[in-house]
Amino acid sequence: MSAPLHVACVMDGNGRWAEQRHLPRTAGHRAAESAVIDVIEASRTAGVRWLSLYAFSTENWRRPDDEIDFLMGLVRRTLRKHALSMCARGIRCRFLGVSDPRIPVGLARDMADLMELTRDNSGMTLTIAFDHGGRRDIVEAARALIRERVPADEVDERSFAAHLPCPDTPDVDLVIRTSGEQRISNFMLWQVAYAEWVFPEMLWPDFRAEHFLECLRAYRKRERRFGDVRSPTPMVKGSR
Ligand code: IPE
Ligand code: IPE
Ligand code: MG
Repeated sequence: MSAPLHVACVMDGNGRWAEQRHLPRTAGHRAAESAVIDVIEASRTAGVRWLSLYAFSTENWRRPDDEIDFLMGLVRRTLRKHALSMCARGIRCRFLGVSDPRIPVGLARDMADLMELTRDNSGMTLTIAFDHGGRRDIVEAARALIRERVPADEVDERSFAAHLPCPDTPDVDLVIRTSGEQRISNFMLWQVAYAEWVFPEMLWPDFRAEHFLECLRAYRKRERRFGDVRSPTPMVKGSR
């Protein structure tokens, strides 16, 4: 069986990783960079066409100011450091979210630049969910339909999905949430409707290519039924 079309990761456990080492939480975020780069490369070489990474939720604005500031700076440095190698690897980078005025202007500009730089790449699409909230995306889609005065009877799942941000994104096949937490935390709610889930105990900064590949193996053992009694063509049904 081939690789899942779309894998999404909830990169959780940075704070606990740091606490275990008696370090500030920010050290855990810094250590997460290696895991991110490893997983992007593992995903690409495994033939995953769509990879989504949850980097900052709409709820994460509740965190202390200094942690938020650190994360904004870290993400900016990481983007600048890896932009050219992403592009050279044929990865198309996109950001899901990124609407809050609290996002520093320089970071927003670097994100826009990276999207533009990699726009025509035809390899894997990497979506970074940043300032993302699944519920907000659904509300935005509803607003867009209302603004366009689409008659209620013409709204169906297909037309609704077409009004979500990044509407060409296929449904998520596999969600990996590290750190043992087993919840969605408002992540791509529409797109995960029929996803398979795995919950490795490992904290995100320790997560590496081999662990990612282990998750792909676990996925291959799942029987996806989509409401049917068998799973006749799961890979086709799993993607819009
Ligand atoms: C995930 O790690 C990173 C972000 C949410 C930005 P956490 O910071 O949530 O780590 P824990 O859950 O406190 O260990
Ligand atoms: C979800 O993790 C968001 C990201 C990984 C970016 P959190 O650690 O913020 O989620 P909760 O609050 O524990 O559910
Ligand atoms: Mg967490």
